[in-house]
Amino acid sequence: MIRKVLVIGGGTMGRGIAQTAAAAECEVLLCEINSALAGKAVSTIATSLQRAAEKGKFDAARIPAVLARIRVTDRLAEGTESDLAIEAIIENLPAKQALFKDLAQRLSPQTLLASNTSSLRIADIFSDVQGPGRVLGIHFFNPVPAMPLVELVRGPATSDATLADGREWVERLGKTAVLVADTPGFIVNRLLIPYLNEAALALQEGIASAEDIDTAMRLGAGHPMGPLALADLIGLDVVVEILETRARVSGNPHLGPCRLLKEKVARGELGRKTGHGFYKS
Ligand SMILES: NC(=O)c1ccc[n+]([C@@H]2O[C@H](COP(=O)([O-])OP(=O)(O)OC[C@H]3O[C@@H](n4cnc5c(N)ncnc54)[C@H](O)[C@@H]3O)[C@@H](O)[C@H]2O)c1
Repeated sequence: MIRKVLVIGGGTMGRGIAQTAAAAECEVLLCEINSALAGKAVSTIATSLQRAAEKGKFDAARIPAVLARIRVTDRLAEGTESDLAIEAIIENLPAKQALFKDLAQRLSPQTLLASNTSSLRIADIFSDVQGPGRVLGIHFFNPVPAMPLVELVRGPATSDATLADGREWVERLGKTAVLVADTPGFIVNRLLIPYLNEAALALQEGIASAEDIDTAMRLGAGHPMGPLALADLIGLDVVVEILETRARVSGNPHLGPCRLLKEKVARGELGRKTGHGFYKS
């Protein structure tokens, strides 16, 4: 049973995974690239728990114990005791490959190795890792504490025992798991991201304002959030990366990101995480 979890990357997703795992009684070690970012990750988690308590979604009395179960570090070497190592670092294949090559040597052969990637193939991320039966994709959604779905991704050699352990863990975190093959975008992003691209293209072509595109899909399609606001929440860099991977893997350049999305990413307008995307936040 997974009790000790090493989370690598303390950005949007890594913080959410750390918080959710600690709230489900796991001991969490959260690793960032330097101590300033590690410290920032844990203070953001504290704020997130406080906000959830203020909204009545989390018992305020539990916050100190949850925070006490999260340790932060900038040294991967401290995570050798983990049952599961899950990464949520930048969406970059060489970076993830290098991380797991290093981790596989440090951790016990029994430790499960998981990636939270949105768009990269599990087969590619773990191509150089010994013990491919223990690797899988565990794809959470943003914001992790609130979103109930997790996609479990079977790599080419992922064992049934690994999938069963992964499923048991995510269910203990209060999530519902779906199992999906190692294909670009898995289920949700395969359907969702082309829709976000189409919304950005509609804005680029000037058919309506950002506000009206979002209002149309909220009130006309019953979506809780419009596509451009959702793209800002996900991160425009993440959206572009997923579209580029899909275009590359399919050999169909029409599935790639529209010009407006690429321009925004080039200008550093990445959405909520930089305070500016389709909207200013
Ligand atoms: N943002 C989303 O909505 C979303 C949803 C599901 C999955 N994902 C995936 O999760 C991953 C992370 O996305 P994010 O939005 O949290 O990114 P982010 O940019 O908010 O955070 C990434 C963090 O990783 C840290 N980092 C980079 N290299 C590291 C290393 N070697 N060791 C430790 N820390 C390192 C960075 O300092 C940064 O804080 C990506 O693979 C992304 O595709 C994102």
